[in-house]
Amino acid sequence: MKPEMQAQLIRAAQAARQHAYAPYSRYPVGAALLTRSGKIYTGVNVENAAFPSGMCAERVAVFKAVSEGEQAFAAIAVVTENGGAPCGACRQVLAEFGTDLEVVVADTSGKVVLKTTLEALLPASFGPQSLPRPEVR
Ligand code: THU
Repeated sequence: MKPEMQAQLIRAAQAARQHAYAPYSRYPVGAALLTRSGKIYTGVNVENAAFPSGMCAERVAVFKAVSEGEQAFAAIAVVTENGGAPCGACRQVLAEFGTDLEVVVADTSGKVVLKTTLEALLPASFGPQSLPRPEVR
């Protein structure tokens, strides 16, 4: 991803983070997922009084994109106060759509804390290729 695109993606994640619903953890997260077609889908964490019913920002972004017909992704930016990395469950959901995804984690100032790939974050992953029978779509 070009530097301008990366900066735009981080800004989108920063802006989305303002809409996070995180009254319990007080740890708002914003994500911005770039499709290979050049669109950006944002996501935020949405917590719940029944704690396990909440959802992470990254998965919200993936589910928004897939529900609108997008399945090819180039990069994701995630913004938190301290540059926390995507959780394991989000890595798994992202891996479904390809581990060659660029992952950029930034803090709220926009400083890049981690720049890597999903392959590096989730090596030897279980994915569509792991299932012996071809998928039926
Ligand atoms: N969270 C995310 O949104 N993404 C992650 O990858 C890590 C954790 C959220 C879940 C919860 O709302 C809050 O951050 C604290 O765990």
